[in-house]
Amino acid sequence: MTKPVPAVLLHAFPLDSSMWAPQIEVIAGHRQIFAPNLPGFGGAPLVEGGLESFADQVILECDAEGIERAVFIGLSMGGYVAMRIADRHLDRVAALVLADTRAGADDNAGKEKRSAQAARARSEGCSWLAEAMIPALLGETTRKTRPNLVAEVTSMIQRNKDEGVARALEAMRERPESLELLASLDIPLLAIVGAEDKLTPPIESERIVERSPRFELEVIPEAGHLSNLERPEQFNDALIRFLGDQD
Ligand code: MLT
Repeated sequence: MTKPVPAVLLHAFPLDSSMWAPQIEVIAGHRQIFAPNLPGFGGAPLVEGGLESFADQVILECDAEGIERAVFIGLSMGGYVAMRIADRHLDRVAALVLADTRAGADDNAGKEKRSAQAARARSEGCSWLAEAMIPALLGETTRKTRPNLVAEVTSMIQRNKDEGVARALEAMRERPESLELLASLDIPLLAIVGAEDKLTPPIESERIVERSPRFELEVIPEAGHLSNLERPEQFNDALIRFLGDQD
């Protein structure tokens, strides 16, 4: 029997690898899992450079874990990093799961907002960040019905370090358009998106899966941007099925 392909889980902004707890719980025991903290988050050191450096750092850490090839699973910013890994280290990628993310670059207004938020993080710290982001991160259903999850995500955001937040905002601001890259990939790809995701709405995932007949889409009802935390059972079902197909 061949060994199941490892899974590498890349977290969203401004969270850390602990957001993957509901997935690690069900995947661990079946295959090797690695869920790194991206540079500047969850106590991980900062790196110089943009998302390319985040991607290279993940690959260095995969080397240290003995992971040669994996399914890279990225949610939102984690998806941006997974796309950079596919661009720079394709031989390491067995398949991609891109959850609640987009392949497009920021427009000018989006870039200006990132710059303003990075400047604010450096001058004021990040105490404003949770309140600013919760309405975008969590879907309407979750905000109405799951106060404990709202509190959990708030405290995850409050653990952030100012410079880590600022640098990630600048890295995301500079990320390139990646639809052409995705179209050139001959690997399986699963896009997962919460039906109530307002930050990277389902149309963004539709744009991704349109690029290849090997790409598939799973839309999760009553979930927002953090679909893995908001509807873990549905997210895990889709993920486990897809991972099983890669072994
Ligand atoms: C994320 O959820 O990782 C980020 O909010 C994505 C973004 O700001 O583009």
